[in-house]
Parts: sequence; C-alpha cells; structure tokens
Amino acid sequence: MSLQSELQWPAEGNARVPYRVFSDPEIYQRELARIFLGPTWQFLTLAGELPQPGDYLTTFLGETPVIVTRGKDGGLHAMVNRCAHRGNLVCLKRRGHADNLTCVYHAWRYDLEGNLDSVAFRRGIAGKGGMPASFRLEDHGLKKLRVDRFGELVFGTLSSDAPPLGDYIGNLIGSRIHRVLYGKPKILGTTSQILHNNWKLYFENVRDTYHATCCIAFSRPSACRG
Ligand code: FES
Repeated sequence: MSLQSELQWPAEGNARVPYRVFSDPEIYQRELARIFLGPTWQFLTLAGELPQPGDYLTTFLGETPVIVTRGKDGGLHAMVNRCAHRGNLVCLKRRGHADNLTCVYHAWRYDLEGNLDSVAFRRGIAGKGGMPASFRLEDHGLKKLRVDRFGELVFGTLSSDAPPLGDYIGNLIGSRIHRVLYGKPKILGTTSQILHNNWKLYFENVRDTYHATCCIAFSRPSACRG
C-alpha cells in the first residue's frame, strides 16, 4: 500500500495534523530528499561568523554535513563535508581557521573552495603504487553548494533547480528580514542544543505566537490578578 493511500488527512483540514507526520520514517526520508536536498535555500550562517579568509565552520543540510568557508578571494563558499576519497568527514571541528582543508584519513588536501589540491603518494613510492595516469585532481573535488547572501544571511543549496535566492525569499518576507536585521548584526556568541524530536516540531513552535501572547498576558500583574 502506498504512503499516499495509507495517510488520510483529517477532513477538518490543515489545522488537524496527523501525529504520524512527526514520526513516520518514510515521511522523514522524503522530507530530507525533497526539502533539505531539494530546490530550496537553507540558512547556513551569518556572514559575520566568517570574517577572515581561512575561517570555516561546519553545519548541516538536513543530515548532510556541510563546510562553509571564507575563501582567499574573500567570498563565501560551501561544500559537502565528505572527502571525495572515501567519504570521511574532512572538517571535524565546529569552526576554525585554516589555509586548506586536509582530510585526516589519507591526507587528501582541498583548497578553501573545495577543489582538490593534492593527494598523498599520488605518484606512489619508488615507482610502485600511486594513482593511475588518468587521475585528474579537478575531477575529485568536494561536492559544492550554490551559495548566496541575503544581507548578512548566508544560504546554500545543492539543487540547480532552486530559483535565485532573492526570488525564493520574495519581497514580502525579504522586507521583514531587512526590518529585523537592519544594518550589520554584531555577533555576541552562539549556542546550540540537540532536540530529540522531529524537525517540524521546532519550526512550528517558533511560528506559534499563540503561546507567546499567553506568556505576555500572564506576565502582566493585572492579568495575573485577574
Ligand atoms: S577518506 Fe579522505 S583522504 Fe581518504
């Protein structure tokens, strides 16, 4: 039986979300493919988090590990954090500063834009081993994301079908982002936590101003006294 026929949306409409969409592994896999790896732009970082050429940080597109760098050209770049050799994580730390990205497994070295620069023992040792003559560095770089900025916000996508970032965000949402992030934000620090739940619960919670209104109401002394 297909997922479509099994999952009946309640007749009441979008305000009645079946609990199953928060727990079904098949739905989750489709979300990873269609949303996080699909034709969408995902927030990666604030540009100010990588002020100097050589700064890098690691993040995720869904479950796909990603490196974001400030290249020597001053531009922002992003690539999948999986070595082109055997898939090892290239950057192990949350953030750092480096001249290049070197995989700890067999020392394949990439530049800050994800291009493969060198391979250990490429010519072998004493005439033995090494890569075949047909091996070309330019065929084995890290998988690159499209990267674009909306003000200080840096977004990335693995999809060539995602529309230009400005069109994707649109004028209405864009004007609201500009209102909140007017000027250049000063980064005081960062914090993160792991939530053991489906990603949609958090997204929905931060869009749920119903509870925020209640908090404000109950924090007013007159409201508490009734
Ligand atoms: S897995 Fe990265 S160099 Fe081998």
